[in-house]
Amino acid sequence: MAETMAIQTDGLQKYFGDVKAVDGVSISASKGKVVALLGPNGAGKTTIINLLTTQLIQDSGRATVMGFNTVESPKDVRRRLGITFQETSVDPALTGVQVLHFSGELYGMKRRERKVRATELLEMVGLTDAAKRKTKTYSGGMKRRLELARSLMNTPDVLVLDEPTLGLDPQTRAKIWEYITRLKEEFGMTLLLTTHYMDEAEQLSDHVYIIDHGKIVREGRADELIRDLGDDTVRLQGTGDISSFVKELEKLAYIQSVHSSGGESMHLGVDSGQKRVPGILALAASCGFTISEVAIDRPNLGDVFFGVTGREIQE
Ligand SMILES: Nc1ncnc2c1ncn2[C@@H]1O[C@H](COP(=O)(O)OP(=O)(O)O)[C@@H](O)[C@H]1O
Ligand SMILES: [Mg+2]
Repeated sequence: MAETMAIQTDGLQKYFGDVKAVDGVSISASKGKVVALLGPNGAGKTTIINLLTTQLIQDSGRATVMGFNTVESPKDVRRRLGITFQETSVDPALTGVQVLHFSGELYGMKRRERKVRATELLEMVGLTDAAKRKTKTYSGGMKRRLELARSLMNTPDVLVLDEPTLGLDPQTRAKIWEYITRLKEEFGMTLLLTTHYMDEAEQLSDHVYIIDHGKIVREGRADELIRDLGDDTVRLQGTGDISSFVKELEKLAYIQSVHSSGGESMHLGVDSGQKRVPGILALAASCGFTISEVAIDRPNLGDVFFGVTGREIQE
């Protein structure tokens, strides 16, 4: 028999009226892995999280957390989960340490156990000095770190983070990345995170599911998905006869992948951007495609998203 997955969903569907927010999503996370759901706003990431964390019930399909079915055994599921929500939700009238104690009480933790754990976690997220201040005096980054600590109070098997770094300054963002890596490496925790930042999914995850309009459109290890595109990416904007330009490009040995959309943007995988751009520009001109913008870069998950959907992820 196969090992129990920390998270498993099969054909999960959730509609809001006519909106297919989650449209047949099957994902899994083995224990101790970091799995990312990457997609633009409105892709369905939060809805998947809400289904997994038993806050919503799906229209069809099934989901399990540590082997427990989310609909049949929601209490067992919740006991094994820590959650950090997309929207900040700490009580402004409580101090940092009170927020953690309150959460520990909800989980039925004894006072002494709560105290030890709260001290440990405040230390981890760098809030020891601010522990006795009301959270209404906290910055956005401090609130986020406190929420992370709160979601760890019950020592969950699985930690779910919905857009953990949304709107944070680069420094706090780096900190959150560091904690995520530590939780995985030191404690073997399973993490599911959602993000619309491709660098976040690329850096942190063992496995990424790229999601668009409620569907998984691509999945795999980030480095493998990226490598499939080629060595360099040349991103082009232009106008004119894109189809004959594409046809000519595809004949060239040094072109490793060609993706285009809307008749105006293209992402090309090439062996060397620096070396090939002059030839590409000349070819475009001869095909009647006028280029207005060129950028050479290493390929990233944004290019993977563009390759499948024909759209940029950040729009
Ligand atoms: N409670 C709701 N009622 C109606 N529509 C919703 C609700 N929650 C989400 N949606 C819609 O479902 C889709 C997916 O939303 P969401 O899961 O929040 O996406 P993401 O987290 O990827 O930005 C969007 O079109 C959104 O407007
Ligand atoms: Mg969301």
